[in-house]
Order: sequence, then structure tokens, then C-alpha cells
Amino acid sequence: MSTVTLNKRVQDFVITRRQLFINGQLVDAKSGKTFDTVNPATGETLATIAEGDAADIDLAVRAARRAFDDGPWGRMTPSERGRIIWRIGDLISEHLEEFAELETLDNGKPLAVARAADVPLAAELFRYMAGWATKIEGNTIPLSVPYAPGAEFHAYTLREPVGVVGQIIPWNFPLLMAAWKLGPALATGNTVVLKPAEQTPLSALYLAEIMAEAGLPDGVVNVVNGYGETAGAALAAHPGVDKIAFTGSTEVGRLIATAATGNLKKVSLELGGKSPNIVFADADPQAAIAGAANAIFFNHGQCCVAGSRLYVEADRFDEVVAGVADIAKSIKLGDGFDPDTQMGPLVSDEQLEKVGGFLDSGRQEGATVVTGGARQGDKGFFFQPTVISKTRPDMRVVREEIFGPVVVASPFESLDEIAATANDSPYGLGAGIWTRDISKAHALAKRIRAGTVWINCYNVFDAALPFGGYKQSGWGREMGHEALEAYTELKAVCTQL
Ligand code: NAI
Ligand code: MG
Repeated sequence: MSTVTLNKRVQDFVITRRQLFINGQLVDAKSGKTFDTVNPATGETLATIAEGDAADIDLAVRAARRAFDDGPWGRMTPSERGRIIWRIGDLISEHLEEFAELETLDNGKPLAVARAADVPLAAELFRYMAGWATKIEGNTIPLSVPYAPGAEFHAYTLREPVGVVGQIIPWNFPLLMAAWKLGPALATGNTVVLKPAEQTPLSALYLAEIMAEAGLPDGVVNVVNGYGETAGAALAAHPGVDKIAFTGSTEVGRLIATAATGNLKKVSLELGGKSPNIVFADADPQAAIAGAANAIFFNHGQCCVAGSRLYVEADRFDEVVAGVADIAKSIKLGDGFDPDTQMGPLVSDEQLEKVGGFLDSGRQEGATVVTGGARQGDKGFFFQPTVISKTRPDMRVVREEIFGPVVVASPFESLDEIAATANDSPYGLGAGIWTRDISKAHALAKRIRAGTVWINCYNVFDAALPFGGYKQSGWGREMGHEALEAYTELKAVCTQL
């Protein structure tokens, strides 16, 4: 960190004890408890954070309910709401440097990546959703009621906010995941209780202050940090919450869905993946190799949609795998604040242990580690970019989400074979296809059971492009106008004239 002088506001932010943000106020947890957030590049404590639990979640849900029922938010015109959301996007851009520094400190990602990707994407998401605030429309519907001959009706639909929304987000893109969740919830007029990941509590608290500055009324967004098993579980189960939105592990997704049955709150889930990235022999080799490396190594493989299964048409298998391995070896690991760093640490010692465990399992089951395969250094949570080959489809490293910079590579012979192999997974989040044959690309895209298929690219995200999973990768879509549906109820109004 010696290479960068932290922004003054960021310095203050990390040295001060950070509170919860409920009803527009910074408050301690009711229990008085706190937890520490750690810099993953050093393992050292960054800041002490108020640790919310069920009692604080309850306060926050009540504040969100009051803000929904009685506050100025519900009386604002869509245009006024849209302008506040747009202003949030602009303020994120204005404070880009501080947000980027907070993400690098808390998550470990290279500062250049946070500056170029996380923060601008978050700002854009708010601006994109701001535009929708004035376009939440229903339909007029002609009726033919068979048992009311001669009667005339005027019928229409209204799209209304769901109400109080609970949102639980992960640590891999802390600010961006908050934006994906908050943007559509606010554009449609809901109020929110946001529970950030315990590994990365800082940027959401900073965002809370920015949102107040943008003119968001008190109680519309409440941020309660704390652990998943306490604060998160309380939010998912709370009877005063009308909808719960979650991004994280499939395992916890199941717990959320179960907890939601109490009051049958609406649920949207963005869960794990084991996404196939498929390189045909006729692909541009340089683009495919660089693309395959980016697909798995971006964000240190800590992407739900990471291209973690690399399939290469047999003729080109050795060449492509060698190319990806060369890139893996060349990636410079280091502190995210070092301008030479291309890959930072994993987020936590827990993740480091988990990824290492997968390597042990792969070796035991007979896979070959082409490059990488181990922790790097003994300070911080660094793991080497890793390529594994000679796998079998039933191995844990092929079937389970590793969530680290680890790709498994296998050859394939035909389009029919690869379509089946690509779909041989409980997940269905993303897929990549590399070929110069557009007909083959689209034929395969149609056969893959996944929420996103990238052709001759990977990891392209845009606020307008819906994102989400088939199968056990989730329920519902985020971003795009589809996201609005998850945050609205539809009312049919029928009048006899
Ligand atoms: P996790 O699913 O436990 O945590 C994600 C969020 O859920 C955090 O805010 C956490 O506090 C909360 N949470 C945890 N348990 C909860 C519960 N019982 N009720 C309500 N909320 C709860 O993920 P974790 O433990 O951080 O990582 C484990 C694995 O999950 C990773 O190795 C990766 O495979 C996967 N994961 C997937 C992500 C994605 O983007 N789809 C993001 C993060 C993790
Ligand atoms: Mg967990």
C-alpha cells in the first residue's frame, strides 16, 4: 500500500468505527457488538464495523416500512424519483476514486480494475435504472367476458412496488452488487434493507452516505452489516419483508428460499455457476486464448459466471491450454494498490482454504495441474492462477464451483458432444463460445441451458443486458428491464362501464 496515498475521506472512513445506517441515521448495533473487516492483501484489520443481528434488522425493516407507507418517497413523482437515482449514479462517478480505494482495501482487487469496472458499472446501473422510473407502465386490456353479454368493461393493469425489500449481497463485487440490487428496487419505488457481505462492509456504507446526499429520503435504503447466519437469516425470514433478493452460494440460496416460505415473500436468487467456455478449432486463436484466460482469471475467478470449464476442440487443445497456462504464469500477483499488480488476493482465508481444498481433491482424483495449484507467499490470501487438465466429468473440480483462479480444461470432438457436456451441470449461469462460424455459434448458443451466452467475448456486462441463471443458478433476472418485474406487483383493475 506504500505505492498509493489513500484519499483523505477513505483514510477517515477506514480508521473510524463504522456504524449501521438505519432510517437515515448512523447507529450502533443494539447489542453493541462489532466485527473487524480485514485487508486480504495483508491479513490486517482495516476497520471495526457495527455487527447487526436480528434486532437491528427488525429496526431497519420497520424504518423501511414507515418510509414506504408514510414517507415522502411514495408521494414523489416518478420523475423526482428518477432524478435522485440519476444523482446517485453521478455522485458515484464523482467519488470514483474513493469507491475504488475502498473496494481494493476491502476485497483486494487491483485498483485499476475497481476504477475501470466496478465503480463505473455501478454508476451506469443507477443511471440506466433512473430512466426506467418514469416508464413503469401497465396495459389496457380488452375483455370478452362470456357470461356478461352486452356488458362493457374498461380494464387495465398497474405495476406497483412490492413494498419492503430485503437484499443480501456477496463480497466479490461489493459496490456493484449493491447497485444491481438497489437500482431496480428504487426505480420501481420500493424501500430496502441491504445486508452487505461481512467480508466487505465498507463500500455499501459509503454508498449510504452518498445516497443521502443525492436526496434519498430517510428509511428508503437501510444498510445493516452483520453475519449471514444472524443478520442475513433474520432478513430472509422477517414477516415484514415483502421480497428478498439474494446473490451468493447456491447452498445459502436454498436457505433463503426456505426462510421466505414463512410469509411467502417474493424471492429472486442469483447463485453459483460452473460455466463452460467452448473454443472451436476455427476460432481466432489469440482472441480465444486471451478470452479463456480472462473468463477465469478476471476478479481472481471470484465471479459467479467465471468460465471455469474450458472445452477446446481436440485439434487445438494442446495449443490453447498451453496459451492459457502461459498467461496464467505471466500474471503478476500482488497488493491491489501496486500499479503493476494484475491479480490481487482471494477475499479471505476461508476462500483460500476452500480453493486449496479443491486442488487437493483434484490431485487425489488424478487430475494434472498444468500450472499454478498453490498458495503464493505466506502473507495475505494469494492463490496462483491455475490450469488443470486430464479431468473426468465426475470429479469435484469439474462439477463444483471453486470460486478461485482455477480452470479445468478438456478436449471435445463434436458439436453434439459439447452441447451435452456444456449442459452436464446442475448450474446454468453463463457460457462462452469461440468460433468464426456464426451459424455454429448460434446453433450452440440455442442449445446451451444458461442465462448468458457470450460469443467471441466473455464477461461483457451492461446495465441493459439481463443477467441470471437457469437451473440451480437462480431465480429471476437482474439488470435490463426484466429486473423491474422482480420488484413490482401487477394489479388488474376492471370497471364495468
Ligand atoms: P454465502 O452465500 O454464504 O454469502 C453470501 C451472502 O449471504 C453474504 O452476505 C452472507 O452474509 C449471506 N449469508 C450467508 N449465510 C446466510 C444465511 N444463512 N441466511 C442469509 N444470508 C446468509 O457465500 P460465502 O460463504 O461468502 O462464499 C461461499 C461460496 O459461495 C463461494 O466459494 C462461492 O462458491 C459462492 N459465492 C457465489 C457468489 C455469486 O456471485 N454467485 C458470491 C459469493 C460466493
Ligand atoms: Mg457462507
